[in-house]
Amino acid sequence: MYEASDRLKSLPPYLFAKIKKLKDEIRSKGVDVIDLDMGNPDRPTPQHIVDRLCDTIKNHPSTHRYPQAKGMPKLRSVISKWYSERFGVEIDPEKEALVLVGSKEGICHFSMTYMNPGDIALVPDPTYPVHFNGVYLAGGSVYGMPLLEQNGYIPDLKAIPQDIARKAKIMFICYPHNPTTAVVENLDFYREVVEFAKKNNIIVVSDIAYSELTFDGYVAPSFLQVPGAMDVGVEFHSFSKSYNMAGWRMGFAVGNAEILANLEKFKSFADYGVCTAIQLAGVVALSGPQDCIEETRQVYQRRRDVMLEGLEKLGWHVNKPKATMYLWAPVPEKYKGMGSMEFSEYLLRETGVAVSPGSGFGKHGEGYLRIALVTHETRFHDVLLRFKKILK
Ligand SMILES: Cc1ncc(COP(=O)(O)O)c(C=O)c1O
Repeated sequence: MYEASDRLKSLPPYLFAKIKKLKDEIRSKGVDVIDLDMGNPDRPTPQHIVDRLCDTIKNHPSTHRYPQAKGMPKLRSVISKWYSERFGVEIDPEKEALVLVGSKEGICHFSMTYMNPGDIALVPDPTYPVHFNGVYLAGGSVYGMPLLEQNGYIPDLKAIPQDIARKAKIMFICYPHNPTTAVVENLDFYREVVEFAKKNNIIVVSDIAYSELTFDGYVAPSFLQVPGAMDVGVEFHSFSKSYNMAGWRMGFAVGNAEILANLEKFKSFADYGVCTAIQLAGVVALSGPQDCIEETRQVYQRRRDVMLEGLEKLGWHVNKPKATMYLWAPVPEKYKGMGSMEFSEYLLRETGVAVSPGSGFGKHGEGYLRIALVTHETRFHDVLLRFKKILK
């Protein structure tokens, strides 16, 4: 018997690995399972980006070699231009931008770069699991910052005990937020975070993977727009959601040069960076026509509206999100007695619809489900009919 390390053993199976096992079991019984669990975009990558990849791979064999691990200068310069135009934030492409093998990789390795066993990270609860799992893998401790509906899912920094604040090394924040879909309406919270981080010597990690998936005219800000944020923080972004490039595995981090230098050093021991042809496709994505993002926004917005209206008719009220590709739905009244894990298993077994239990994102996610709007809306009718069966 080969034993995994204590750190790995301390983690339960990855949430989606667990759900997949159950889905496989149910599929093997011939059930037509509808996957609304993982945030895995179902739409294709825009054609001009695919074309660029195909052309590069076919006609430029030099791109088959090892890539530039920190990201090729052309891509880092396009990232810097995008930040300037989108957020009015100036990024030095040489020192303040780092390309990642997906932002999940970067976020996980970030904790391993900075956390020593026993160090504390301030992590929203609930949140995207790598925000806390990376800390555990690094041997660190998590101090959960509860995200509560009554506070708009914004953490109360004043509620963090002084001794914890002083000891904490990293704080994670994420708006638009996965899984609660919460957004920040202005820069007030980010200003508070900068002040808190400076006072307590904390590194801020802002994850804005969903900054472009916004609805009804809402525009998401960047943490780095706040004066002083560049002194204390870095921001992670992803190609996966904006450009439907989840399978291509590419993201990037921008922000404080000194903070990023250590992540770059860590990564130099762990990976060789993103395939050059994919990096060049990323150049086209960020610098080419952006109407593909508008199209994606409209698709999710329409799906959101169709699903919300259908759920409302079933007596299942869910708040209308301004961003992301999810609905954050309370466990229906009739099933409140079940935990979110138990209810999502029941839902899958009874209806063949897979959603994510809120508790998989942290203990304050209990009582909720995350429904990912990642299937064609023609299937929503089917989903709603199946839900009706158990909600009657
Ligand atoms: C908040 C958040 N950050 C990061 C990621 C990971 O993105 P990537 O595909 O760039 O690794 C996800 C993926 O679902 C996410 O929800």
